[in-house]
Amino acid sequence: MIIREAKDYNNMSRIGANIVSAQVILKKDSVLGLATGNTPIGVYKQLIKWNAKKDVDFSSVKTFNLDEYIGLSKENKNSYYSFMWSVFFKHINIERDNVYIPDGMAENISDECLSYESKIKQFGGIDLQVLGIGRNGHIGFNEPSDCFKRDTHAIDLTPSTVEANLSFFENAAKMPKSAITMGMGSIMRAKKILLLCSGKEKADVLNQAILGDIDPLIPASILQLHSDVTVVADAAALQIYKGNSK
Ligand code: PGA
Repeated sequence: MIIREAKDYNNMSRIGANIVSAQVILKKDSVLGLATGNTPIGVYKQLIKWNAKKDVDFSSVKTFNLDEYIGLSKENKNSYYSFMWSVFFKHINIERDNVYIPDGMAENISDECLSYESKIKQFGGIDLQVLGIGRNGHIGFNEPSDCFKRDTHAIDLTPSTVEANLSFFENAAKMPKSAITMGMGSIMRAKKILLLCSGKEKADVLNQAILGDIDPLIPASILQLHSDVTVVADAAALQIYKGNSK
């Protein structure tokens, strides 16, 4: 695991965008695994600028998003579909047919999970998976649990995740309590992983994920078993890790 310290959020975003660009420049038909949340927004903004300058070309790139709420339509402003299009996809030269996001409105959610997983395999797997980390250590919506779930699956969100994401919704009743997420196997099969982390409120969980036992109660800890993970985190997020790794 490579730990790369960034000065602050902007610096983290620039380094993260450099890693994503390098991937796409080296392999123009890369399969990218993408994340939602506040953390990767700066990376997407930087990539949009470089795409406008023609420094990075997304015309042959395929993307798979980590997760989606169950019960929110694509048009719903809180769906991850809406988030990804408004924050990133509509500003770059990606082909609509090359974008994959789980369908939270699918009639049969189990079938949707199976078909999502098989589409990832069909394209040869993910070349670079971008991840954030939740305050409870989740990656995607793989919540703390007694086991690591392997493939794309439906999951009930934990109270801490509901609390963390509630501010995006008008009220608690409007926030879905379940989601589809890529599984730990889906993530761990990615050839490379980029974990982004910013802010002191993540310092404790990031430290546990990097230095603690591999424990499904801290889902991100499984990343220690992957052979090509780069963590790009700002100084605030690395505070506790730095104290413990001396
Ligand atoms: P955040 O979410 O980037 O909004 O902090 C991260 C996550 O929950 O994975």
